[in-house]
Amino acid sequence: AYTAEPFLPERGGLPALRKAAAECRGCPLHRDATQTVFGAGSQDARVMLVGEQPGDQEDRQGKPFVGPAGKLLDRALEEAGIDPSEAYVTNAVKHFKFTRAEPRKRRIHKAPNLREMTACGPWLAAELSVVEPELIVVLGATAGKALLGSSFRVTQVRGTVLEEDVHGRPERLVPTVHPSSVLRSDDREAAYRGLVSDLHVAADALS
Ligand code: URA
Ligand code: SF4
Repeated sequence: AYTAEPFLPERGGLPALRKAAAECRGCPLHRDATQTVFGAGSQDARVMLVGEQPGDQEDRQGKPFVGPAGKLLDRALEEAGIDPSEAYVTNAVKHFKFTRAEPRKRRIHKAPNLREMTACGPWLAAELSVVEPELIVVLGATAGKALLGSSFRVTQVRGTVLEEDVHGRPERLVPTVHPSSVLRSDDREAAYRGLVSDLHVAADALS
């Protein structure tokens, strides 16, 4: 089976993890992507935000949530009273998965499959054990399935505080939609309001 497990360092904090993840070949996604996009933020962060996988901009820049979805997320966080610079942000899968309609054309994001999410899980588990956040904000269905299993349904649990075991540790989680889904929505304003409202629940759970 695909797994990142053999690439994990035996000790060290975030810098050791980030360095090791740059060399990960635990699944085929490293082949076509530019680089590993590891999580970003302080080891002391109280809140960890988990997205799906890096997008085109993240793949080029090597940092999570620096493209359009990230800009929207930062705005929504600030509005909800969470300082984006104090959060730890990461993704369920650390390499960009994409297709091209034609050679040399724009790269189109493709959702990671269960094997890739499972393969990449050890990095997310390691980030959780080092950062030990007080709260996890789950951004969308892929992150939810990666953290809580394939029965996760974002519409059923968004904007609520869940208490669940994640990789063997008890965690508190607030799920919401993925910021990219707000950008794709027919009613962007309503979708954005919904995201901010869920993030308010997260802000309250932190105070
Ligand atoms: N979408 C994600 O899920 N993660 C990113 O880092 C960027 C876009
Ligand atoms: Fe390793 Fe995850 Fe990248 Fe696959 S997606 S190669 S498991 S870092």
